[in-house]
Amino acid sequence: MFAITNSIGMFGMNAFPVTIEAEVTKGTPQFEISGLPDTGIKESRERVRSACSSIGITFPKGKVLINLAPADVKKSGSSFDLAIFISLMQAMDILPLRMPECVFVGELGLHGTIRSVRGVMPMTMLARKNGFHEIYVPIENVKEASVIDNIRVYGVDSVDMLMSHLLDQQVLAPAPHYMPDLSKTLTDLMDFKDVRGQLKARSGIELAAAGGHNVLLVGSPGSGKSMLANRIPTILPEMTHEEVLETSNVYSVAGQLPPDQPLIVRRPFRSPHHTTSSAGLIGGGTIPTPGELSLAHNGVMFLDEMPEFRRSTLEMLRQPLENRKVVISRAAGTAEYPCNVMLVGAMNPCPCGYYGSPNHQCNCTQKQIKQYISKISGPMLERFDMHIDVDPIPYEEFASKEQSDSSAQIRERVDFARKQQEKRYAGLNIYCNAMIPDHLLDQFCQMTPGAEDLFAKMYTHYKMSARTGARIKKVARSAADLHGNEKIDRQDISMAVQFRGFDSKYLK
Ligand SMILES: Nc1ncnc2c1ncn2[C@@H]1O[C@H](COP(=O)(O)OP(=O)(O)OP(=O)(O)O)[C@@H](O)[C@H]1O
Ligand SMILES: [Mg+2]
Ligand SMILES: [Zn+2]
Repeated sequence: MFAITNSIGMFGMNAFPVTIEAEVTKGTPQFEISGLPDTGIKESRERVRSACSSIGITFPKGKVLINLAPADVKKSGSSFDLAIFISLMQAMDILPLRMPECVFVGELGLHGTIRSVRGVMPMTMLARKNGFHEIYVPIENVKEASVIDNIRVYGVDSVDMLMSHLLDQQVLAPAPHYMPDLSKTLTDLMDFKDVRGQLKARSGIELAAAGGHNVLLVGSPGSGKSMLANRIPTILPEMTHEEVLETSNVYSVAGQLPPDQPLIVRRPFRSPHHTTSSAGLIGGGTIPTPGELSLAHNGVMFLDEMPEFRRSTLEMLRQPLENRKVVISRAAGTAEYPCNVMLVGAMNPCPCGYYGSPNHQCNCTQKQIKQYISKISGPMLERFDMHIDVDPIPYEEFASKEQSDSSAQIRERVDFARKQQEKRYAGLNIYCNAMIPDHLLDQFCQMTPGAEDLFAKMYTHYKMSARTGARIKKVARSAADLHGNEKIDRQDISMAVQFRGFDSKYLK
């Protein structure tokens, strides 16, 4: 008897279809699985045997051959277990031979349990795209699968349950489609209105959010860097439907979707500790999985206490930050994970933390300060369009009863600035000012004659490099977008220059 069943494999973010062929013939007892290169083969065999015995089915006496096609695509992981089991049941004539509309994904546990697997959301998307009508997934993954409509999704927790359903003995109901109303405004737990004073830092952060610029927050301990950084996602534009799915897919592949809330509807904020390994940060492993950088996709990646990170670890972030994707090469192929993030770094200005502070005396030597800063390489510092000094607030600000702007108010201005960028860059694959490539700077960052004049003076006065000049133009473009100016004016230039303090403070 010869049977064919459908399953889906994952590599990186890509789901791909796999057909599973099973044949049971007379001959010396044997159980072979071909077309699945990794060491999971042997283990898969044992799990399938165990699943059979769990429902009282005697394993066939003869020769059992299973083939996973296409053979030239390397497959890894244990998500084919369930489909292998089903195809065997068909080949043994226990299940009907033809189930062309169904896909099966899941790992078998001992005693016929079905265990969760990673990537069920993108797998279900592919199943729908390829015209399947039904997908069977582990019960723990059913919620994330049910986000995809126009396909019947069944969550199963044991082969017993699945067999009863397929044999029409105890029919299961498909999971209801899950899609929260994304247009409803979400209330965030954190809000900028809780931050007192800090007018300059707040306007810097607003400017950064307006143009998607990476920012470095520099300030003494307790000055409020973490507090400010945490709130950045609350002023970025609401996620689009497409962004919600993209980010949720990354979490699905990483196995990190919260089971009861299978969509990431708020921009993520990831703050990995400085001891996180480079694999944890950018992704990796023998079967590659996404790292923190990709878990921050469409949101904020916060590196607190940046000089505490290993320099080599920071260096590994550079390329992915530039390309907005992580590429991981393995013998089995190249996995890609998206990482379109706004990078926010935080650091003290010196080892003691008080260099430049109005309230405390810094006792570090120039050499110590230089050494401290140099823990972050020049090229890494270059990833930041803006540097924001976060000074401790004076008592009057701390005690003030005056309400600061709320996140919703700031977001409205950010949205206004982003709308203009959307129009300007339509069809160019540029989403925000931070992404303007150098060769388009002149075209998109036009200045009034007054601004041109001021920029020239500043450039010479601060002995800027061409690179710094380019950064300032981009940030000034964002200031102009916030102010609704078609051309960058003097005020936009001086606003942008304010947030390059780091250069003159340290790098000279
Ligand atoms: N502007 C502010 N308004 C209200 N509270 C503030 C402000 N700045 C700081 N705080 C309070 O001080 C605490 C410490 O701030 P935060 O942790 O953000 O400082 P930090 O700059 O990150 O310090 P460190 O360098 O030690 O990490 C906050 O939890 C908050 O309660
Ligand atoms: Mg902090
Ligand atoms: Zn110091």
